[in-house]
Amino acid sequence: MTAFSEENRTSAGFYVTEEAPIQPANPIKTPEAPAPDILRCAYMDLVVTDLAASRHFYVDVLGLHVTEEDDEAIYLRSTEEFIHHNLVLRKGPVAAVAAFSYRVRSAEDLDKAVAFYEELGCRVERRPEGFTKGIGDSVRVEDPLGFPYEFFYAADHVERLSWRYDLQIPGELVRLDHFNQVTPDVPRAVRHYQDLGFRVTEDIQDKEGTVYAAWMRRKPTVHDTAATGGDGPRMHHIAFATHEKHNILAICDKLGALRMSDAIERGPGRHGVSNAFYLYLRDPDGHRVEIYTQDYYTGDPDNPVVTWDVHDNQRRDWWGNPVVPSWYTDASLVLDLDGNPQEVVARTDASEMAQTIGADGFSYTREGDEAKGYKLGNQV
Ligand SMILES: [Fe+2]
Repeated sequence: MTAFSEENRTSAGFYVTEEAPIQPANPIKTPEAPAPDILRCAYMDLVVTDLAASRHFYVDVLGLHVTEEDDEAIYLRSTEEFIHHNLVLRKGPVAAVAAFSYRVRSAEDLDKAVAFYEELGCRVERRPEGFTKGIGDSVRVEDPLGFPYEFFYAADHVERLSWRYDLQIPGELVRLDHFNQVTPDVPRAVRHYQDLGFRVTEDIQDKEGTVYAAWMRRKPTVHDTAATGGDGPRMHHIAFATHEKHNILAICDKLGALRMSDAIERGPGRHGVSNAFYLYLRDPDGHRVEIYTQDYYTGDPDNPVVTWDVHDNQRRDWWGNPVVPSWYTDASLVLDLDGNPQEVVARTDASEMAQTIGADGFSYTREGDEAKGYKLGNQV
């Protein structure tokens, strides 16, 4: 089954289907135990090597709000958040992700999470007191793809700062929007996360059937997490939302004024995938942070799935601007439940970067116009 039939093609150049046409060659088994009911991506537990440098980046520059801090960790939240935090910066020897954390609908969903992952033979650890300050009963697992996933319901409530305009800056980060995970076998990851209750909203494929990336949601936006094809398990980025595009431009202006333009890796620009306005930054440890705004509602059960051709040079940037190679190659390590980095496994499927740049690759702006249909420069 392929999305690339003429009847699926839209006037904007991408393809739409009712269900994601992604079939893994090597699927993870589907547990008989029901999946926990995930509400949304809630926070990332992020290990950083220099807590003061990270505090400067996330608090002084990006303006995230400090809920609590000590010598070992800083607990940060975005403007609209009412639970304790969206990001934990934790001091440690190796810059890496300790947990991708999701909020579930009820306390009973934690029992479901335990049963779901135990049936898969995964390592599971439950702590009634939580793994971080401000969060109660929690389950952490090493998922079948090697990612440290966490589930919780109980959380301390804090003030939602939406009305506190006195605390807000021009580039205010208002919500945690999504995670992005690098994994070698995207169809295998998609099937597993579908078993966990996620729905695909968009993907990038080629006409030979290789899947390069997929976006998956629980909350009714384009995604809570995405699977990006590459050597993994690694973390590609964490994304915070602003209200509008001009907030992202204000962040760029501020970084320039602070002589920190080298923190800008890619953008600002308009994505093809997700239709969101974006900016990619790198924090002092190299962790990638996306600033993101204005994607679209996806909550209906028959929400159309969008598939992009990997050769369409408007898929990653709607204006056809080049993607810098580091965006494809660099990502953060993830930790096992003992705090040791997970081994990184090489992707063997085709690389998106290789498909779209260099002697063998090509990109098009207008399909069928491959010779000169893209911008000058290194288009990946
Ligand atoms: Fe993203």
